[in-house]
Order: sequence, then C-alpha cells, then structure tokens
Amino acid sequence: MKCPGGKIPSVGLGTWKAPPGLVGDAVIAAVKAGYRHIDCARKYDNEKEVGTALKHLFCNGVVKRSDLFVTSKLWCSDHSPEDVSKALTRTLEDLQLDYIDLFLIHWPIRTKPGTLGFEAEVMLPLCMAETWSAMEGLYASGQARAIGVSNFSTKKLQDLLTHSKVPPAVNQVECHPVWQQPALHNFCKSTGIHLSAYAPLGSPGSWIKGEVLKEPILVEIAEKLNKSPAQVALRWGIQSGHSVLPKSTSEARIKENLDLFSWSIPPDLFSKISQIQQARLLRGDFAIHETGSPYKSLQELWDGEI
Ligand code: A2P
Repeated sequence: MKCPGGKIPSVGLGTWKAPPGLVGDAVIAAVKAGYRHIDCARKYDNEKEVGTALKHLFCNGVVKRSDLFVTSKLWCSDHSPEDVSKALTRTLEDLQLDYIDLFLIHWPIRTKPGTLGFEAEVMLPLCMAETWSAMEGLYASGQARAIGVSNFSTKKLQDLLTHSKVPPAVNQVECHPVWQQPALHNFCKSTGIHLSAYAPLGSPGSWIKGEVLKEPILVEIAEKLNKSPAQVALRWGIQSGHSVLPKSTSEARIKENLDLFSWSIPPDLFSKISQIQQARLLRGDFAIHETGSPYKSLQELWDGEI
C-alpha cells in the first residue's frame, strides 16, 4: 500500500501482548508464511526476542533486510528531545538492526523520564513540537526511514501538520469493524497520511471489552464467503484502504490472517459492515486524571472522537 515516501505492506504481524518465549517463533513463522511487516514497540517488552528472530531470518537467507518492513515506537517517557534518539538507539540494538523502517510516537501522552506507568504524578504536559522535531532528526539521519504517530485524533494530526517539516507518514490507531473511524480515515486520506490498524480483530481474549469476531454481521458475511470472521475483519480493513496488524502467536492463525488476497468482500456485503454499532474498545482511561494529567476526560484525549 502507498505510504508517504514509499510503501507499507498491507498486512503486518502485531507483537503487542505476544509473550516472551513465543514472539520469536511467531516472527519466524510469519516471515516464512510471507509477512513482510513486523510491528514492534519498546513498551511491548519483547524487542530483544524479536531481534534474535530477525537475525536468524537474515542469517538463514529467509528474507533480506531490505525486503522487510519493521516498525517500532517511542514510549511516552522518552518524549524529551534528548531521549528520542537514545530510545531509537536502544530499540535498534534490541532488534539488531541499523535502521528502522518506521518509528512512531506511541501515544500523544508524555510521562516523566524513567517511569513506566500513567499515574497522575508522572504525567507531563505534551510538547509535541519539540518531540516531533527530534523525530525529524532521526528521519534526517536515516536511522528512521519514515516517522509517524499512533493514537492521534484528527485534531492532533492537524496541529502536528501545522508545525512539522516532515509530515507524519502514518497514524497507527485502533481500527476494526466495531471502531471504523471514517472521519479520521478521510482526514488521513486527504492529507496523505497512511492509516494503519492495530487490534484489527478487537483483541479477542484480552482485557479489552468487546467481541468483534462475534458480531452477527461479520459472522454472517464469513459464513456466506466461507471465511473466518477474523479474515472478514482483516479483508474489510484492506478494502477500506488501510493496513492491518493482526497479532497471533499461532502458526495456523498467522497463515489464516494472511490469506486475504485471492478473494474479496462483494460491495453489498461490504456496505453491511457500516451498520455495525460502533464503540472504541481501547479508550485510554489510564491517561485520564482530574489533576496532574493534561487530559481530564476521554473527550480531551480523543478531541471528541469517542
Ligand atoms: P493467538 O495469538 O492465540 O492467535 P488483535 O490483533 O486484534 O490485537 O487480536 C489478537 C488476538 O486475536 C490474540 O489473542 C490472538 O490469539 C487472536 N487471533 C489472532 N488471529 C486470530 C484468528 N484468525 N481467529 C481468532 N483469533 C485470532
């Protein structure tokens, strides 16, 4: 798929919640199955194991570095300009890479350096202009081939565009049939920002509430097309024009989630998906505090897109 400055594979392997001990094998299985995008983050606490798997794949000639797209993300406690470059260096060391294809600001949330959580006392005001300028430095140095953001509302993208020299290539957000975000999607399209979908299956089995794969409309379409609800959810994403990042550590499901290209959802069934009742599942309540946080409500965090 088109992405400013190049291309991004339409399906990537998500590694959020992929446990240590399993994530490396999942990366190897995915690349062997044909995935060419691995979506990582320092916060997922598994980049070292992903790096070992990548090294194995390169050393064994399964894939060339230049044919693989690897994304990682800047954590909230590393927003200070002097920490941005250090954070990427650490991630590159862990992933055993000398550049990253895409580096994203993980959340529009800034916390005190060296902290991990989102308690009120560690929350800091956002200063996106200085963080983004440091991100632009990584782009200029070639250490990050593209830079972007994650969990940004339309308004936060608009603000960023007013002061960026290098516009964000990607906004990675929660997106699936139960949280379709058409307005954000249209804004991204009109400004040339690629939208990438995390939790494209609605993260079944996790603490996230919502049963995307049990949505009756999805189940009905899946039965009609002889596909799984997961495949319909992912194919819906691709047909909508965004890339999808399903996480799995099961080889069978990793393969299932890539089997999306020899079929499509016909227009009459595709339009039914827009009838599904909408709900943001990853609401970001953890960042909301009456005092201490720049965000007093979810409305403020998402600028009304909730
Ligand atoms: P598993 O790793 O055991 O396959 P998301 O990408 O939306 O966050 O969802 C990830 C969750 O969905 C994981 O719990 C994963 O479990 C599960 N999953 C991945 N692929 C499928 C699939 N094809 N069908 C059902 N569940 C899936």
